[in-house]
Amino acid sequence: MSSHRQETVRRLTAPDIAARKGGTPVVCLTAYTAPVAEILDEHCDLLLVGDSVGMVVHGLPNTVGVTLEMMILHGQAVMRGSRKAMVVVDMPFGSYEGSAEVAYANAARVMKETGCNAVKVEAGPAVAENIDYLVKRGIPVMGHVGLRPQAVMVDGGFRAKGKSNHERVRILEDARAAAEAGAFAVVVEGVAEGLAREITQAIEVPTIGIGASAGCDGQILVTDDMLGLFDWTPKFVRRYGDLRGEIAKSVAAYADDVRNRRFPGPAEIYFAKAG
Ligand code: KIV
Repeated sequence: MSSHRQETVRRLTAPDIAARKGGTPVVCLTAYTAPVAEILDEHCDLLLVGDSVGMVVHGLPNTVGVTLEMMILHGQAVMRGSRKAMVVVDMPFGSYEGSAEVAYANAARVMKETGCNAVKVEAGPAVAENIDYLVKRGIPVMGHVGLRPQAVMVDGGFRAKGKSNHERVRILEDARAAAEAGAFAVVVEGVAEGLAREITQAIEVPTIGIGASAGCDGQILVTDDMLGLFDWTPKFVRRYGDLRGEIAKSVAAYADDVRNRRFPGPAEIYFAKAG
């Protein structure tokens, strides 16, 4: 890849994504590594270095244990692998909720050390003023409402949200507050179509749904879920591939080769281009 080509490609930015409200749906996927980012970049408007990396890559039970250092390392990898998609890095649990100043110091560090285009925060009632603080100081922010994975301990686990009127009103308020505070887009996770449409109509920036119906302005999925890497897939996710089956088949073939001493030795073969 020549550096000239890199210079001539412009990455999508927060205003580009914000301008897609009500237009062509925004295509988003999660990415955690450079090679996967390179494949997704061609097809996606936005790559999210989600804190789901803790569960998907590091085997954690939820996202609460994810650290700023983990997000920075994966953010750097995704930036190296992509050229055109907007890259958003999740702020991990405990890095942005306590105060606006702490949120700013941590978000600025993520932006500087990864070169990413924006950060994402789970936008509960206490966070809107921190979003406002970040945006006013030059950090584009994406909000995240509905099922908030970092709040599973208080919200009662990974389940659909907004079923009761009380919860529905609260989620709508969270989305409004995030948008009014300056978020350029809001992820809406795990809510029914009626509420997704209500939020989409209520706010002026794009809603990006995950398990939230086509009533949103775009969709995001966890890439490894939709590629079929796990033996379990959330009900709302269409499996577009069977990566788990493909990997198992390839590894079985490899193991068979090794057990039957079918592996190359000479350097000429070792360095030959794989075909
Ligand atoms: O961390 C993540 O991957 C996310 C998406 C599920 C939206 O927040």
